[in-house]
Amino acid sequence: MPRTKFVAGNWKMHGSLAGNLALLSAVRAGAAGLKAQMAVCVPYPYLAQAQSVLAGSNVAWGAQDISEHIQGAYTGEVSGTMLSDFGCRYVIIGHSERRSYYGDTDAVVAAKFAASLKAGLTPILCVGETLTERDANITAQVVTRQLDAVIASSGVAALERAVVAYEPVWAIGTGKTATPAQAQEVHALIRARIAAESAHVAAGLQILYGGSVKSANAKELFGQPDIDGGLIGGASLVADDFLGICVAG
Ligand code: 13P
Repeated sequence: MPRTKFVAGNWKMHGSLAGNLALLSAVRAGAAGLKAQMAVCVPYPYLAQAQSVLAGSNVAWGAQDISEHIQGAYTGEVSGTMLSDFGCRYVIIGHSERRSYYGDTDAVVAAKFAASLKAGLTPILCVGETLTERDANITAQVVTRQLDAVIASSGVAALERAVVAYEPVWAIGTGKTATPAQAQEVHALIRARIAAESAHVAAGLQILYGGSVKSANAKELFGQPDIDGGLIGGASLVADDFLGICVAG
């Protein structure tokens, strides 16, 4: 069975009630009839709005982070059950911005991954190396370490209910896209690492590429054998740009 292409938007900390209405409505209308699986991950305060505009469409919605706890005295945190209350299907876990600015260690990421599955959400687990790590030729080690933390805590079978996103940190928001060959090499490595635990899980796993994906480069990236779609930052904030990428899926 070929894997369905999946295009997910990550709005990061962008948006406003007024602006989102136009963006979500245009995405909803333009996505009708497209064959890719699609989702947008919006800031927490806009989940209700995403739910009201996108309900009944072929675009799902999700969040960009989750607490590893179920409930309790954790000021500022948002739990998986709260996300489910707003109809979220997806949650981004371990984005490099969370890892580098907010102290999401491999252990925290593994706990958040487990919490999202417990709440019935599909985690989009982000992995990827920095430029320093790439230059030091340790991309494979870094990505493997990030994956292994999750496999060790949740088990490889948990990846049947998850999506992985390879996001080289040096390509995020920089306009520098990994070449299709560079991305494919790491995607193949990720799939091989998982296949070493379970060939079945590896074969079904959607592995997205993220980092300066645009409609102009999406088709070639998504044409690689182990690239199953994209996690889109900047281009997900403009309906035509996002839809142009979805069309490539
Ligand atoms: P850009 O598409 O803006 O490079 O962001 C990628 C990203 O971080 C998506 O999560």
